[in-house]
Amino acid sequence: MDRFDLIIKGGTVVTSADSVRCDIGIKDGVVTALAGALNGGESIDAAGKLVMPGGIDSHCHIDQVSSGGLETADDFASGSRSAAAGGTTTIIPFAAQHKGQSLREVVADYHRRAAGKAIIDYAFHLIISDPTDAVLGQEFPALIKDGYSSAKIYLTYDALKLDDRQVLDVLATARREGAMVMVHAENHDVIQWLTENLLLQGKSAPRYHATAHAAAAEREATHRAITLAEVVGVPVLIVHVSGREAIEQIAWAQRKGLQVYGETCPQYLFLTADDMDREGLEGAKYMCSPPPRDAANQEHVWRGLENGVLQVFSSDHAPYRFSGGDGKTAAGANAPFSKIANGVPGLEIRLPLLFSEGVRTGRLSLQKFVDLTATRAARLYGLYPRKGTIAVGSDADIAIWDPERQVTISQNMLHDNMDYTPYEGRAVTGWPAVTLSRGEVVWNGTEITATPGRGLFLPCDLPEPARPNRSGILET
Ligand code: URP
Ligand code: ZN
Ligand code: ZN
Repeated sequence: MDRFDLIIKGGTVVTSADSVRCDIGIKDGVVTALAGALNGGESIDAAGKLVMPGGIDSHCHIDQVSSGGLETADDFASGSRSAAAGGTTTIIPFAAQHKGQSLREVVADYHRRAAGKAIIDYAFHLIISDPTDAVLGQEFPALIKDGYSSAKIYLTYDALKLDDRQVLDVLATARREGAMVMVHAENHDVIQWLTENLLLQGKSAPRYHATAHAAAAEREATHRAITLAEVVGVPVLIVHVSGREAIEQIAWAQRKGLQVYGETCPQYLFLTADDMDREGLEGAKYMCSPPPRDAANQEHVWRGLENGVLQVFSSDHAPYRFSGGDGKTAAGANAPFSKIANGVPGLEIRLPLLFSEGVRTGRLSLQKFVDLTATRAARLYGLYPRKGTIAVGSDADIAIWDPERQVTISQNMLHDNMDYTPYEGRAVTGWPAVTLSRGEVVWNGTEITATPGRGLFLPCDLPEPARPNRSGILET
């Protein structure tokens, strides 16, 4: 019997720490050897290629019903296909609680949605919108122990938003049980007040979404989330950070020694609010919350990634098609911005865009690229070292990159179930030539080669970065 099921030969193996020329031996889906020259099994020639940990997309909405009642276009089949074709081997979507629902039942429902469909492995974050005594006293703690060790909470959206008292209760539970809390930080009343007044002034086009979701609203809510976490004495992760105002708050907290983490997404590097300023509802294709800002803010986001204030680069893939009953135009051709679904797709292009514009331009090292797109998410959400690195004992989740491959992004080449991409016509250099999930080729550079249902659910450990290093006010 061969020593290995597969050997990846002759590539440059990149982790968040190193780049090394070596072969990778894989047995039973796991990396079992890293050495100069390995023999004894089938091989893939990776000469001239970069062999990196498959990406972890730790923020994507798959087969999820939005706060406005719309269903995302991607289910676990199309979402995981799209992820794999872009070099991602783990997704962490959400099991989203709507008010009145049992968190346990929500989780069971999302497992049914994923079953038999995913081609790559997946975990779940919880979304807690109804932190009742039963949810915080029993369901959330039990689910954390069962491998759902992160939860997202919202400071905006009528159907999801928690008040400050509820946020404190969720954070206190997370502190006690060791979970990571992610916060969607925008000030709800500011957004509502601006929206109502903009609409009264007849300003209803998609571009006014950016005015309503002002950077000041994001800044205030970011600061508030940080403050509430400081009061409780627990780490917190601010998701989809859009620009300077929020970054300054996160950097301030980090300088104070608070355990505050930050995530950003492609839309804040590659889109601006001007993209929403188009004929009719065309601008809706670029609407997400928080919204893309301007070129100066893009530069701040780049710097946040470079200098470590922001640690995670996810897609926030929120796939609402342009047309159809669950799409951006569901409320009609003249719908005001406030009635248009928020969110943009990005699962497949997340890594190629950052590689092309970050690594190839010299802004980001290869190590930083791997850290931002895979390793850090694995650590922050309790999947490391099974996922997020290439090491003996880790799952053989690997993307073999052709760093020279030129691709013009277009919806018809993507594998999601969308009818548009906000990045149509954008040229990138560098694309995964092969994606492996637990040693099995799932993307061969031209087509998906995996069977739906092979993806496994990943219970997450208690994340080490969620462990508090300071007391809350009640403990002092
Ligand atoms: O606009 C966005 N980001 N939609 C997805 C839901 C969320 O808040 O992340
Ligand atoms: Zn959000
Ligand atoms: Zn999101």
